[in-house]
Amino acid sequence: MRFAVMASGRGSNFQALIDAHARGELPGAELVLLIVNKRDAQAVARAKAAGIPWAFIDSEAMPRAEFDRRALAVLRDCGADAVVLAGFMRLLTPEFIAAFRYCILNIHPALLPNFPGAHAHRDALAAGVSESGCSAHLVDEGVDTGPIILQQPVEVLPNDTEESLAARILPHEHRLLAEAVRLLAAGRLEVDGGIVRILPEK
Ligand code: GRF
Repeated sequence: MRFAVMASGRGSNFQALIDAHARGELPGAELVLLIVNKRDAQAVARAKAAGIPWAFIDSEAMPRAEFDRRALAVLRDCGADAVVLAGFMRLLTPEFIAAFRYCILNIHPALLPNFPGAHAHRDALAAGVSESGCSAHLVDEGVDTGPIILQQPVEVLPNDTEESLAARILPHEHRLLAEAVRLLAAGRLEVDGGIVRILPEK
């Protein structure tokens, strides 16, 4: 499975995939491209260090449909079979989703369906929950609404800030995202009525 990663910033989830692949933990998966939508995304430096081709498509300079058209063209040129959103802070158009139906993964720093969107930690703290976490899921047309693959609960501490909660959850994001890529590459993800079934090892 040839997969591309899309990122907008720091790229620690992208780095986790680079590292998992280097450790041989993603059999059958090949990381073929990084696409960033921000010129200053730190993820680019990670791609360069790992020798992974990268492309910058400036999402601030064009409408959403044009961004997706250009991203799809680049993805087709490199023969990507799947896309992993790793700290990618934009919505994709239905056309993009349809082109990679159930082959787009995302990692979200909350226990979906709780706290979707761009401020998961802030919202979890404001709600006073004692537990948050992260979710790896298949992407559909909604905001963090696609079929859930893996989740990891993480304790919220009384004096947590967004930063301390994010730091406690982040390593679990890295682990879950790599595991979701592994499962997708192994053909072990089946979607039945909006629910993911993880098939046994073949
Ligand atoms: C992560 O918490 C990710 O879940 C969220 O953005 C944060 C930064 O991710 N979408 P990364 O370090 O850029 O991968």
